[in-house]
Amino acid sequence: MSNVDEMGLTKENAEYYEASFVPAIFDQWPPRVMDAMSMGEGDHVLEVGCGTGVHTREMLKRIGAAGRVTGFDLSESMLGVARAKCPGAEFIQGNAMALPFEDASFDVVASTFMLMFVPDPVQAIREMWRVLKPGGRLAISVWEGLHENPVYSRLASIATERINDEAGTSLSWPFVLGETGKLADLCAEARISGVTITPHEGRAKFPSIDQFVRTEVKAWVLADHVDEANLDQAVADAEAAFASYCDEAGAADFPLNGLIASAKKE
Ligand SMILES: C[S@@+](CC[C@H](N)C(=O)[O-])C[C@H]1O[C@@H](n2cnc3c(N)ncnc32)[C@H](O)[C@@H]1O
Repeated sequence: MSNVDEMGLTKENAEYYEASFVPAIFDQWPPRVMDAMSMGEGDHVLEVGCGTGVHTREMLKRIGAAGRVTGFDLSESMLGVARAKCPGAEFIQGNAMALPFEDASFDVVASTFMLMFVPDPVQAIREMWRVLKPGGRLAISVWEGLHENPVYSRLASIATERINDEAGTSLSWPFVLGETGKLADLCAEARISGVTITPHEGRAKFPSIDQFVRTEVKAWVLADHVDEANLDQAVADAEAAFASYCDEAGAADFPLNGLIASAKKE
């Protein structure tokens, strides 16, 4: 096993994220995020919490040769994959709560599905706003709350029951900022005006419920702490609970809804 980075992730976690999560969940989001901030040719873009670069590579296409993308992430493991997948972007390791950039450096700042993992999300939003030029555009995406994502709500309950409390908490954590008004409150606390928050219907598509559960548990920080027998039981429960989302071949397709907050800096 390779070294664990500052985010608690290994090279193997990052490669698994790219191979499993990206096609199942994240691939469909870049056009929505780029549209939310009217990203276009020639923009100089900062992507905070870029992960393995699923949004970065689409941004590179949209901004063309005259534009620039800087990907920024706490995890060296995620950045390792992003560097290999996105020649043409630059990548910098660091913490979203203290961006190492001058004020007013970027035309566009985007952050997708990262904010819920930052200890002080208001500080991270303040930092994104600070490095944005006047007239620049910000977009932040998060998952909607568990009430809007019932498959994940049920999966978190199954994980708590069959694995342990930590597993249930980890699986529900990505949804904590999606509760009504929470993202708006954070933006208001960060003193960002004119924020629009739009709900988006997404889908999660996995080859099977077995792969869905194992990916959710293993691609993230729980990878080394889960007993295989308990995981097998969680898979069996999930297969029974989510049978209605599967086709005849067993492929799973279910809703996974998000929110995109966008704002223009005057
Ligand atoms: C769920 S992934 C999303 C990655 C990518 N934006 C995507 O849409 O696939 C969350 C990312 O946020 C990064 N992250 C978490 N906390 C961070 C922090 N404090 N500063 C910078 N990046 C952070 C993680 O390393 C991870 O790559």
